[in-house]
Amino acid sequence: MAADGYTMGKMWNPSLYIGSILDSHEHRVAILPKRIKDSMPSPEPKPGDSGWLYRVLEPYYSRECVDNVMSAMLEGQISSGAAWPRKMVQEICSLYQVPVALPTSSGASALHVALLACNLGPQDTVLLPALTMVAVANMVKMVGAKPIYCDCAEDSVNPGVPELLEKATPRTKAVIVCHTYGVACKDIVSIRDLCKEKGWWLVEDICEAMGTRADNGELVGTFGDFAVTSLYANKPITAGDGGWVHARDKKHHDRLKSLVNHGFDPAYHFLHFEVAPNAKMNGLGAAFVCSQVKTLPEVMQYRGKIASWYRQELADVASSLRCIEQRQIDAPWVFGVETTNRKARDELRDHLALYGIETRNYFYPLHLEPANFYGDEVGVYDIPLPRSEHLAQTGFYLPTHSFLQADDIKYICTVIRAFYKPDAAIPAPSRKHGWVDAERSKLLNCQP
Ligand SMILES: Cc1ncc(COP(=O)(O)O)c(C=O)c1O
Repeated sequence: MAADGYTMGKMWNPSLYIGSILDSHEHRVAILPKRIKDSMPSPEPKPGDSGWLYRVLEPYYSRECVDNVMSAMLEGQISSGAAWPRKMVQEICSLYQVPVALPTSSGASALHVALLACNLGPQDTVLLPALTMVAVANMVKMVGAKPIYCDCAEDSVNPGVPELLEKATPRTKAVIVCHTYGVACKDIVSIRDLCKEKGWWLVEDICEAMGTRADNGELVGTFGDFAVTSLYANKPITAGDGGWVHARDKKHHDRLKSLVNHGFDPAYHFLHFEVAPNAKMNGLGAAFVCSQVKTLPEVMQYRGKIASWYRQELADVASSLRCIEQRQIDAPWVFGVETTNRKARDELRDHLALYGIETRNYFYPLHLEPANFYGDEVGVYDIPLPRSEHLAQTGFYLPTHSFLQADDIKYICTVIRAFYKPDAAIPAPSRKHGWVDAERSKLLNCQP
């Protein structure tokens, strides 16, 4: 029992616990188990007085997107039932060569409906990476199944076949592969074959890997029964918020269509055969993102250039700073690096923040998330997943977006190298604060 009367895992029904609203930041942390307190991320570094010169990610879109939203508004084409979501579906089906796609309100809602379509229940478990975003575990819990966290493969940000098999049991019904940070899972072909052999559903979460290609050259998102993605503003193409779910088999169309829309039945308007969310995307979001879908290969090709610039510029400090896993087609959504230890990671991030360079830690592994430590299942996730835990302590990512040019990467890497060689001079940056806003205005042909 803690001094304030709370008992870990007993007093709080997790469905009633709204700690982020009710408790102070210090209190929420003070009551956490030691294992979390010892490994949780440090508070985020703050930029100097003039703010960030380089944000870690920036939304990037063309004038056509803005004009399409305007025409959607002028023509009353604003809802999920309007023309733009239908056009968006055509673009997705054409890019991914799939027969079924449904725009959704977010990546999380896309995952929610994909998992509902897998008919998972309380007796079922789903294998998923520990090193991914919390929505992945949340959506498994939302459909009543249990997430089972898998470690990364050696030298990888994704689990491979051995890591999945280590956690598989007769209760396993599905696998979620995330292609974390836009690095294609190296075992995706064997994982597809394994799922087929075992009769498991395979859901590819490509929220961080839209337009990413596997080692065999195929787009990730074409291996699973379902693929889901996010169109949040930090993604390579964006609707501000939004997403989609697509499927390789057209038999899934009617069910998915109903699941995104309150469980409406195609034949009987107000007859609902199952409980379902409203996961639809509105027409304005679809108008905004529609023309971006076909530009995705080009955007990702540019990500490939950014990765090659970073790798080249950081070669000098390779013994202290390891670059993110490099696959055959090297174009990660974000460019990650790994320091030798936690202290060096935090100090390097602070150093970069001093120069206005924003960075982001790698995920804190899901099996250690405080949300797992309340309620009846307290302690069940107290398992070691050493590779994910190590990456969470040492990894972070650098600015990675379409406004960055080779000289920007050069400057960011000069600042990084100076951390390791403090005598090295850092020239003044060629960019001024607000440069991305000015570039965006140019791109959109309007005044800043
Ligand atoms: C792997 C993964 N899954 C799901 C999501 C959730 O997407 P959204 O924020 O659009 O709900 C994200 C968000 O970035 C993600 O990275």
